[in-house]
Amino acid sequence: MRLDNKVALISGGARGIGAAVAKIFAQEGAKLVICDILEDEGRKTAEEITTAGGECVFVRLDVTSETDWEQAAAEVTNRFGRLDILVNNAGITARGNVEETSVADWTRTMDINVKGAFLGSKQAIPIMRAGGGGSIINISSGAGIAPQPGTSGAYAASKGAVRIFSKSTAIQYAAENIRCNSVHPGPIETDMLRATRPDENNLEIMKGRVPLGRFGRAEEIAYGVLYLASDESSFVTGSELVIDGGRTAQ
Ligand SMILES: NC(=O)c1ccc[n+]([C@@H]2O[C@H](COP(=O)([O-])OP(=O)(O)OC[C@H]3O[C@@H](n4cnc5c(N)ncnc54)[C@H](O)[C@@H]3O)[C@@H](O)[C@H]2O)c1
Repeated sequence: MRLDNKVALISGGARGIGAAVAKIFAQEGAKLVICDILEDEGRKTAEEITTAGGECVFVRLDVTSETDWEQAAAEVTNRFGRLDILVNNAGITARGNVEETSVADWTRTMDINVKGAFLGSKQAIPIMRAGGGGSIINISSGAGIAPQPGTSGAYAASKGAVRIFSKSTAIQYAAENIRCNSVHPGPIETDMLRATRPDENNLEIMKGRVPLGRFGRAEEIAYGVLYLASDESSFVTGSELVIDGGRTAQ
């Protein structure tokens, strides 16, 4: 299996892309800690994985809390004694143009999407170092490369920050065999997509901008994350994997 003997932590693993990543990782032999603020959904996802024969625990974690990250890192170390893969996936979307964005919304978006990835990496790196290396995968967005007219500036800026933070981390830790890459999904059918564009008309416009003519599925992102997590990508660091049906190629 592609992730045999590897231990992975996935933030925002209760649902959507994070849950799809967790399920595919488990099928490929990884032992998992999934973290989220959604406790019921997180426990349910962990239970589904365990019932299917995987090894998975749920830990409640708010990615903006350094204390929560310290506790999650301690849980990983106590339970598994190592950490090979970190997927900084937890994120929120935002709505509105610059004038419509409140300072509170701007700060919240940056805190969850950017500070969350920073705090996760900060806790994961020493554990990865002790184990001889690791792979950090930060879930950015197509919006972090080329926003669409309706994309919130706060969201695009946060995802652009995640993109460049990934490259910075890659360069800082390459000598210690810790790789870091970003993944850039296009519009994917999850709760987040429905929350950003509740209007059916809007969804159709969005779909029309995707050359492949449809929204992606969470599993289609998860397979890209799997590649970056596995040793198949051992020479890949500081790169950006775009999985968006061609949206940003135009
Ligand atoms: N769905 C898309 O179209 C799309 C496109 C590009 C990028 N992305 C990115 O993919 C990632 C996953 O998104 P998704 O579509 O699965 O959305 P989602 O809303 O279904 O899942 C996001 C998860 O993150 C969790 N989360 C939110 N804030 C948190 C916090 N403070 N602490 C811990 N967990 C928190 C949520 O509870 C949820 O389980 C996000 O980073 C998102 O920005 C999604």
